[in-house]
Amino acid sequence: MPTEFRTFRAPGRVNLIGEHTDYNDGFVMPAAIDAWTWVKVSPLEQRKLQIYSKNFEEEIKVDLDDPNLARRGHWSDYPVGVAAILQKSGHRLRGARLQIRGDVPIGSGLSSSAAIEVATACALAANSELKIDRRELALLCQRAENEFVGAHVGIMDQFISLFGHARKALMLDCRSLEFKLLPLPDNVRLLICNTMVKHELAASAYNERRAQCEAGVKHLAQFLPNVTALRDVTLEQLEQFGRDLPDVVYRRCHHVITENARVLAAAHALEHQDLDEFGRLMAESHQSLRDDYEVSCKELDLMVELARQIEGVYGARMTGGGFGGSTVNLVREEHVEEFRERVAREYEQVTKLKPEIYACVASEGAGEVLAADERG
Ligand code: GLA
Repeated sequence: MPTEFRTFRAPGRVNLIGEHTDYNDGFVMPAAIDAWTWVKVSPLEQRKLQIYSKNFEEEIKVDLDDPNLARRGHWSDYPVGVAAILQKSGHRLRGARLQIRGDVPIGSGLSSSAAIEVATACALAANSELKIDRRELALLCQRAENEFVGAHVGIMDQFISLFGHARKALMLDCRSLEFKLLPLPDNVRLLICNTMVKHELAASAYNERRAQCEAGVKHLAQFLPNVTALRDVTLEQLEQFGRDLPDVVYRRCHHVITENARVLAAAHALEHQDLDEFGRLMAESHQSLRDDYEVSCKELDLMVELARQIEGVYGARMTGGGFGGSTVNLVREEHVEEFRERVAREYEQVTKLKPEIYACVASEGAGEVLAADERG
């Protein structure tokens, strides 16, 4: 890297509750975690991007004036997708040399993809002297993932990567993009358990769930003309007007509608420091994701079961898109060591896989890293 460079970083996230609700205009409650993607950037004379990934030890080059930039099924789709969408939406980019390094575990349900998108977007915007506000940056990164990478994700991951706050969870209304910061009590820890599995169907099953929700909305809107998303439907309305839906679509809608209600109740519980109630809602969320939405898997279910048997655990559930990845656990500080030791040992005994368990700290969102604390 030349000496004249700037460094930006963006965090991964863990979602406390509100799963598969973001693309239904609903509510989510993630926190940014202290695992990051760093992007070092310096200007290039020509309108080209030269992108080196330290994790993959590989460099790629693209021409910013190439009209045929397209997905290659490669790590570089994320940064190139961000550049392509920034330009498509009218932001003219300067050429840049980028060096990317990340420590958000890939495929773990902790949103390494949003971290790379957001860190790249911040770096490219600064390098081109563009002032883009954080909401727009989040939406542009989501668009890059939707249109360029081809994953029809919601706004949660990119948003929290930009708006995260130290020691706070963030409840986001994915329709209005208004949010509320909620205090995480000092004597509890957020433990993330990585099952170390990622099942193949994750991407296609995600898009399929999304389509099933849309089918549910289409049916319900015949009776309820003001309904444009599952966010607008109450449980009573689903029971009344959803009787003719195929069973699987009914259950998908049931999950989303009840999950939205759980997020609101969980925010209330957190504001009143009622962790028992918060944990109960996490358990219900897991059950609904497992039975109604069918995005869990045996490894995630096992990890949650093992966690529940440990003293001092308020709640445990899968986090993120599912089909492998991680669970999130709310654990009293003094039981963290016992948790780590027992859950890791018992999980390994059954699955023969060594899980990774991280005690995470809710962190601030993306930003520039000053030379003094630069770790990238
Ligand atoms: C993935 C997506 C998010 C969200 C979650 C499920 O992480 O990127 O937009 O839909 O799955 O809650």
